[in-house]
Amino acid sequence: MSTRKTIRLTVNGKPYEREVEARLTLADFIRHELHLGGTHVGCEHGICGACTILIDGSSARACLTLAVQADGASITTVEGLRNRETGQLHPIQQAFVDAHGLQCGFCTPGFIMTTLELLGENPNPTDDEIKEALGGNLCRCTGYQSILDSVRLAASRINTASAA
Ligand code: FES
Ligand code: FES
Repeated sequence: MSTRKTIRLTVNGKPYEREVEARLTLADFIRHELHLGGTHVGCEHGICGACTILIDGSSARACLTLAVQADGASITTVEGLRNRETGQLHPIQQAFVDAHGLQCGFCTPGFIMTTLELLGENPNPTDDEIKEALGGNLCRCTGYQSILDSVRLAASRINTASAA
């Protein structure tokens, strides 16, 4: 019996159809089939959050999701955040640069995708709410204070822009 299945999904607004092994993870599909290397794979056990993406707008661990489970879904990876027309970084990405929220950068895509979900649901999070939302993401470089500053900066810039 064939273990291959055809899936159709949208990634960063672009439709794809691919035949995949039933056991292929979504993280490996994104990285190796679609060549979108921004989704990082650290622990492969759902612990570190480096592989966090959005599936139909909700954050998910790409390492714990099979590609076949994403059949029909709309996926957003960190590559989908940059403005397609101007090439400008998303305000969350820019805030991480400006507030030194990244050191080696390995964990950063996961933090950014989690922040995207957080600020979409709660544009004015308190520090405790930010810590709670980001609690499932690990940074081996341990620069958590700068990450917190980055999320605060992103929230204030997004709120200022939407109030203008
Ligand atoms: S690689 Fe998915 S949570 Fe660590
Ligand atoms: S910046 Fe290096 S792991 Fe977080």
